[in-house]
Amino acid sequence: MKITIIGTGYVGLVTGACLAELGNDVFCLDVDQRKIDLLNNGGIPIHEPGLEEVVARNRAAGRLRFSTDVAASVEHGEVQFIAVGTPPDEDGSADLQYVLAAARNIGRYMTGFKVVVDKSTVPVGTGDRVRIALQEQLQARGVDAGFTVVSNPEFLKEGAAVEDFMRPDRIVIGHDSTPEGLQAAALMKRLYAPFNRNHERTFWMDVRSAEFTKYAANAMLATRISFMNELANLADNVGVDIEAVRRGIGSDPRIGHSFLYAGAGYGGSCFPKDVQALERTARQYEQDLHILRAVETVNDKQKLVLGRKLLSRFGAYLGGKHFAIWGLAFKPNTDDMREAPARVLIRQLLDAGATVAVYDPVAMDEARRVLALDLSAAELARVRFAASPMDTLDGAEALVIVTEWKAFRSPDFGQIKAALKHAVVFDGRNLFEPDVMAELGFEYHGIGRSVLTRN
Ligand SMILES: NC(=O)c1ccc[n+]([C@@H]2O[C@H](COP(=O)([O-])OP(=O)(O)OC[C@H]3O[C@@H](n4cnc5c(N)ncnc54)[C@H](O)[C@@H]3O)[C@@H](O)[C@H]2O)c1
Repeated sequence: MKITIIGTGYVGLVTGACLAELGNDVFCLDVDQRKIDLLNNGGIPIHEPGLEEVVARNRAAGRLRFSTDVAASVEHGEVQFIAVGTPPDEDGSADLQYVLAAARNIGRYMTGFKVVVDKSTVPVGTGDRVRIALQEQLQARGVDAGFTVVSNPEFLKEGAAVEDFMRPDRIVIGHDSTPEGLQAAALMKRLYAPFNRNHERTFWMDVRSAEFTKYAANAMLATRISFMNELANLADNVGVDIEAVRRGIGSDPRIGHSFLYAGAGYGGSCFPKDVQALERTARQYEQDLHILRAVETVNDKQKLVLGRKLLSRFGAYLGGKHFAIWGLAFKPNTDDMREAPARVLIRQLLDAGATVAVYDPVAMDEARRVLALDLSAAELARVRFAASPMDTLDGAEALVIVTEWKAFRSPDFGQIKAALKHAVVFDGRNLFEPDVMAELGFEYHGIGRSVLTRN
């Protein structure tokens, strides 16, 4: 099938590469010339396990191409996926300018029937706005070409995007019941048939319900995290181990084990903005989403918890004190630092006068870029970008872990202890067991694990 992907970011590039891998002829469009040049020169703009190989293989086979040529991209695909960003607007609502620009481009150049698929995460009703934007362009040109708008939200996770796309736990497709809508549904069924071979994973629904499903999923996941974080803070006060509680409740099949980890707060490009956008949608209908408002407030506060623990241990003024930070990306297996808790922690420590040495297995370049935006030159001079985890430790008062990379799970504790000024570990992801750390001679601060301190 001939497919066009508009927007070659995390979602667009993974979708394009994976659909090419299944034999489709894929054209990836982006407005970012540097990104397209990089891809055409064999480079890859994001860190995503397995992606580089899939892209290289399918480029070499001629099934995957990258371009900034809008007219050619519209000409190419009978199916046009819109996978551009939907960042938060100033009021928290999803900014649809890129989605609508993509729709207008299709209307500007199309000559025959097109299925336009919204893959970006977009608020309820966006399908209608895309249809109108496209229709206006067709009318202006006096062209009568058929099209229909389908919603196909993406559920992949950064860090496991290729795996998630190739083995989805569900495919959500929203379409209308016009003849064009039914034709589009048949096309989407054919396109996704390889993913449904083992068992049917597709949920068919109307466009609005599909748009809503994506927000509901992210809102639920964010809620679980904030729920556990709030309980973890209480656990700290009452001398309870939140990890024991997590296992105790996760074993109930109605609750389940996933997404119950207390930590340093959620970040990334999706949860924060999607929770906000859903709240914003509700406000347009004069409804308050009380639970989601609380989810957001709890998360904003949670990003400060690690820093607060440090300040209460070492004093409000940290001038002359140095700290080691492991993990900068908002989660493991990605270099994405959008809304990453590490950025909040670094700001807190620098504000209190400290210096820091930071390390992340893949996000160092991205960290240099975003911290240069977050910090003044003088502040940036107090951040050392280390070459390895152990390289952060010399002379540090404590080690702080912010991202749960696998490589941090079994470190050489003897080496850590020898390098640190004090054997103190702040574990923002509860990677270690408090009693083991105590036996190893560490003062250990987890999230919601103060039971040993109390005893
Ligand atoms: N990142 C994720 O894990 C994830 C998961 C599921 C859904 N989503 C959703 O998918 C959408 C895309 O997210 P992303 O993380 O891939 O964004 P991204 O910022 O990584 O990529 C978006 C790309 O679109 C390009 N673009 C913007 N306007 C364009 C236009 N008119 N024509 C062509 N290209 C254009 C940008 O240059 C950029 O390369 C968002 O709505 C997001 O919420 C993201």
